[in-house]
Amino acid sequence: MIILSIETSCDETAVSLLKFEGLAGKTAVTILGNALFSQVDIHKEYGGVFPMLAKREHSKNLIPLMKKVLEEAGLENTKKQEVRNKRDASIENIKTILEKEFELQKQFLEYIPSLEKPSIDAIAVTHGPGLEPALWVGVSFAKALSTFWDIPVVPTNHMEGHVAVALLEEKVSEQKNQPTFAIKEVAYPALALLISGGHTELVLMPSAGEYQLVGQTRDDALGEAFDKVARVLGLPYPGGPEISKLAQEDRKKRPDATVSKYTLPRPMIHSKDFDFSFSGIKTAVLYMVQKIQTVTSDIQIQIARQFEDAVTEVIISKTKKALEHTGAQTLILGGGVVANTYIRKSFENLAESLPGLKLQIPRISHTTDNAIMIGIAGYHRYMAGIRGDTNTMRAEGNLKLSK
Ligand code: KG4
Ligand code: ZN
Repeated sequence: MIILSIETSCDETAVSLLKFEGLAGKTAVTILGNALFSQVDIHKEYGGVFPMLAKREHSKNLIPLMKKVLEEAGLENTKKQEVRNKRDASIENIKTILEKEFELQKQFLEYIPSLEKPSIDAIAVTHGPGLEPALWVGVSFAKALSTFWDIPVVPTNHMEGHVAVALLEEKVSEQKNQPTFAIKEVAYPALALLISGGHTELVLMPSAGEYQLVGQTRDDALGEAFDKVARVLGLPYPGGPEISKLAQEDRKKRPDATVSKYTLPRPMIHSKDFDFSFSGIKTAVLYMVQKIQTVTSDIQIQIARQFEDAVTEVIISKTKKALEHTGAQTLILGGGVVANTYIRKSFENLAESLPGLKLQIPRISHTTDNAIMIGIAGYHRYMAGIRGDTNTMRAEGNLKLSK
């Protein structure tokens, strides 16, 4: 079966087309088409994501991305002229569904009715969590496509996408630049550590599709802390990759700097629960920088490294405790912060020290927001019989993964 997936929860507009089939007793997924437009350069000026701007950009970019994936997948077939001119009754419906997304409405009506209905079985769309104005664009687009082509829509949780994409095994084949991955069978119970710009949580999965919150941040998300500390250090948005680069420079320069003038606190590392807190560490960096007055590039790399060391120690320690507490057999990492090389390495070391534990880390290109992850989570939902109602489906900014 073929799933079209749409992601617009934050500042990446993404669309993909995935084919799912059985392969040697396992499910295999082929990426027929994948397109992503990152709005980072647009939001940089504001030092963070500006929701109404994100909404406008999604509205502008969805159709071009859709066109690109249909072309890549070989599913873009234009109708013959005489058929195209016939007035479609559902056009009025589409106008209403997209009435708040002016640019998208215009491009949709120019492009979609010119196509033969592609052989797509379902449309998976992120309906939360995320920035509500941004989510609405994807949700409305999915509703419009579902209505126009009469294809079922599957509302999908963004965080479940981050979990699902971590379960892709190594490539099993590659044809026409369309890689095929097998979906890994997970040993349950599994524990997921989700670290992104909006979330930091430890979630227990007793079985597939079942989520229980074990711990979460009480203030800033980890990615947010990276972004805020970067801003204090005068680095551009998003801060995660910037901090990571500088921290690596410092590790090269001072391989043994376990003791530093710039050591930072490890908030809540000894607390009995599985919660996190990252806002104190950001404030500590702020005070440190205010006291120093002139932050040279050498001091900058030291602080970046100390920050990365401190937060990594906290997440490793809490995850280890949660693994012991829950008896999880698999550890799944998900979210944009998993792009961080030092954090990845630290979890690989942790897994090596815990015999029997299976570690699932997504490849770096799948860590930050993309539509592939939504397609995979959407597939599992589709198979579980979940369908959205185009009349009632809505964006849910605070959607939770666990009940
Ligand atoms: O999952 P994601 O793409 O979007 C959300 O769902 O929030 O995560 C984005 C977050 C940003 O805060 C960004 O700074 C962080 O992931 N990030 C990183 C790295 N790459 C992205 N944090 C640390 N190290 C990185 N290399
Ligand atoms: Zn995300």
